[in-house]
Amino acid sequence: MALNLSRPVHQLDPLSPDLHEDATKMRGHGPLVPVELPGGVVMWGVVGDEAGRNILKDNARFAKSPKYWRALHEGEIPQDWPLLSIAAPSGNSVVNADGPEHRKLRRPLAQALTARRVEALTPLVTSLVERLLEDLEKAARASEDGVVDFRSLFAWPLPMGVIGYLLGVDEADHAELGRLYNALFDDTLSDGRNAELSLHSWLDAHVARIEREPGDDLVSAMLALPEEDRLPREDLVVALYVVLAAGHETTTHLLLNAVRALSARPEQLGLLLSGEVPWENAVEETMRWDSPTANFFTRFATEDVDGAQIHPDAAGVRIAKGDPVFVSYISMGRDPERYGPTAGEFDVRRGDAAHTGFGYGAHFCIGAPLARLEAGIALERIFARWPELSVVGEVPRSPTIVVNSHTRLDVRLK
Ligand code: HEM
Repeated sequence: MALNLSRPVHQLDPLSPDLHEDATKMRGHGPLVPVELPGGVVMWGVVGDEAGRNILKDNARFAKSPKYWRALHEGEIPQDWPLLSIAAPSGNSVVNADGPEHRKLRRPLAQALTARRVEALTPLVTSLVERLLEDLEKAARASEDGVVDFRSLFAWPLPMGVIGYLLGVDEADHAELGRLYNALFDDTLSDGRNAELSLHSWLDAHVARIEREPGDDLVSAMLALPEEDRLPREDLVVALYVVLAAGHETTTHLLLNAVRALSARPEQLGLLLSGEVPWENAVEETMRWDSPTANFFTRFATEDVDGAQIHPDAAGVRIAKGDPVFVSYISMGRDPERYGPTAGEFDVRRGDAAHTGFGYGAHFCIGAPLARLEAGIALERIFARWPELSVVGEVPRSPTIVVNSHTRLDVRLK
C-alpha cells in the first residue's frame, strides 16, 4: 500500500531509548516515510542519504520558509506545540529563508565568521580546554569515587565559552545565557515560543551593549560591515540567536558522542594516539555515525512532488504542496546504501568528511569549521591526558527527538 501522511509508519517519542533504533525502523519502510512526531503532528521524514541530499539541494521545491506549511495555516498545528519554534522558526533568519532572501541573510554571517576568525580562536580554544581539563581533574580528586560528569564540567562549558567569546559576551553572563538557551531544547517541559522570546530579548540588550562598546567579536564585525551588507538590528538579533541555537549544544553533543565512542574502543583510540590516524577522522566519524542533530530541520513542499524523482525506492510516494518534510540526519549517517554494510560500525579509519552531519546544500552549517576546530583540539587533549578514560554506569539520553545526546556522562579519568 502506498505510503501516506494519514498512515504514519513510525512514531518518534522523546523518551525513546535509542534514536538509532528508530532510524533503522524508519529506513526499513523506505527513504521517505510518513512519521508521527510528539504531539501527534505527522510529517514526511527523509531517512535515506541519497533522498536526503536530493531534497536538501532542491530548495526551490523543498523550501525552509514555514509560509508553505499548509497544516500550520489551516490551524491544524497547535500554537503551543513544543516543537513549533524549531519546525517553524519565527523572525527573519537564515534557517527559515530561501533563495535570494536566504543569501542576503547568510552573507553577513559568512563574512564575519571567516576562516581567519575561526583559526584565530585556536589559542582561546586550547586554553579553555586546558582550564576545563584542570577543573575536571580537581573535581575527580574531590569526588569520593573519582567519577565526574563530563557533560556539565566540560562538554557544555567549552562551546558556551567559545560562543560567548565569539559573540563578545562577558564570562560572568555565560551562565544566564546558558539557562535561557537550555529551555529551547527540552521538548517535555518548555513552551518553545516563550523560551525563544526570552533569549531574543537578552540578545537584543547584548547587541545594544556592543553598539556602545564594540570589540574584536563577531557582533562588532557584523555591525561594522558595509551598509549594503549590514543586517537591520532585529535581523542581527535573530542571526545571533541562530548562531547560539545551532552552534552551542550541537558541539556539546559531538563531544559527548565522540568520548563515548572512543573510550569504548581502545584499539581505535590507539591509532589516534600513535598518530597513525589523524584526530580529524575521529571528529568526522562521530559526525557521521552518531550525528548530533537527529530528526528535524523541516522543509516544506512548494509544489506536488512525485517520490520517484527523489529516490527510485520512493516511487509511489506523493508529497503534496504544503507538506512538511523533516530531515533525519541521524538516519542518513548510517544509511548502508551510502556507507556500505559497515555503515552501523564506528571506524576512525573511514575518514569520510563528506557526511551530512553538518547538513548539505544551501543551508550547510556555517559553523562547521569552528565545531571541527573545538572538537579536534578537545579530543586530542582529553585522551592524551587520560588514555584510559572510561564511561561509568548508565548514560541517560536527552528527552528529545531533535538532538542525539545525553543529559550526563559519568566518567572515570584513569
Ligand atoms: C557539532 C556541531 C554542529 C553541528 C552538528 C551542526 C549541524 C548543522 C546542520 C545539520 C545544519 C543544517 C540545518 C538544515 O538542515 O537546515 C546547520 C546549519 C547551521 N549551523 Fe551548524 N552545526 C554545528 C555547529 C555550529 C556552530 C559552532 C555554529 C556557529 C558558530 C553553527 C551555525 C549554523 C548556522 C548559522 C546554520 C544555518 C545555516 C543556513 O541555514 O544557511 N553550527 N548546522
